[in-house]
Amino acid sequence: MSLEIMADLSVLDGAKRIAAGELLAFPTETVYGLGANAASDAAVAKIFAAKGRPADHPLIVHVSDAASALHFACAIPDFAQRLMTAFWPGPLTVIVPRKSGVASASAGGQDSIGLRCPAHPVARELLAECAKLGVMGVSAPSANKFGKVSPTTAAHVRAEFGDAVPVLDGGACDVGIESTIIDCTRGAPVLLRPGVLTPAQLEAAMGQALLSNNEHSAQDTRRQDAENTPKTTQKSDLQQPAPRASGTLASHYAPRAPLRLMDAKTLQTALDLLGSEGKNIAVYARAPLQAKSTHIILRRMPQDAMSTAQQLFAVLREFDAQNVRLIWVETVPEDAAWDGVRDRLQRAAA
Ligand code: TXA
Ligand code: MG
Repeated sequence: MSLEIMADLSVLDGAKRIAAGELLAFPTETVYGLGANAASDAAVAKIFAAKGRPADHPLIVHVSDAASALHFACAIPDFAQRLMTAFWPGPLTVIVPRKSGVASASAGGQDSIGLRCPAHPVARELLAECAKLGVMGVSAPSANKFGKVSPTTAAHVRAEFGDAVPVLDGGACDVGIESTIIDCTRGAPVLLRPGVLTPAQLEAAMGQALLSNNEHSAQDTRRQDAENTPKTTQKSDLQQPAPRASGTLASHYAPRAPLRLMDAKTLQTALDLLGSEGKNIAVYARAPLQAKSTHIILRRMPQDAMSTAQQLFAVLREFDAQNVRLIWVETVPEDAAWDGVRDRLQRAAA
């Protein structure tokens, strides 16, 4: 398929492709997704093949509304329901118990399913057209090769997959980093991947505490110690093993060039040491740094977390396109608004 035809692809044509078991890349408010019919294991297999992603890493199923979630979930805990009411459509994924026999390839063989209702108007239109064609959910990971930086424009997607996958162009993504993921299968809400929603916002919506993966494991250990539960005890909801989330691998979202995180003072000292010799280094910092060499790319990071999230992956891709040897990034503030950005930077640096 030529680029011209792809640029002209209508949402309806895109929905027809999905209904026919083909792949389609589409915009969401977070990042672009690589979509296929969630109900078709054969269609979903094409996603894993195109991404080079191991088949046991589960995919998120995108639905048009909370009612459609019931096609895939067999139970929705109250706190998950409150999250969906508060943040759907929007940048939030809930992991809930999966209806058996539904979307098993998408779930990577796990008995849970990740569900998200995206807010981007093109995604919403696509999901509505898909539903008319009998497709109740679209499985979609970020539309990048496994381990690489997520795409936030249609051009990024084309750079990953070329002509192999048609792309619906919905402009640059507003949010810019992937959705917040909350595991709702373990009795209490557990944060698997931070996004732009803060723990305070999430807790206010749920009316209860949000646990980190570590806190939850620690509670499990204490509970088991207290009850002196033998390892062979039947699995209860609270004793499910932590699910596999590829976005939670230590090294992920990596640009080609090695990325280092440093505070502003260390960055300036490093630049001073390089003097006029520095070459092919990109610096992304909030502080107004000075470089003697004209071969150093200085890029200002916005002062606020939302704007930084929106541009982060595009900036990393630009640095790669400029063939820099190293990427130096200023560490971000400690407050919760920066959790999502800090998480992506730490993984990119790992
Ligand atoms: O913003 C987003 O979430 C984007 C857009 C396209 O919606 N999607 C996205 O998908 O980031 P992906 O596949 O790149 O990351 C999804 C994450 C993975 O870490 C995956 O392991 C986890 O969600 N996940 C999906 N289903 C799961 C499940 N049943 N249990 C545990 N983790 C799950
Ligand atoms: Mg991804």
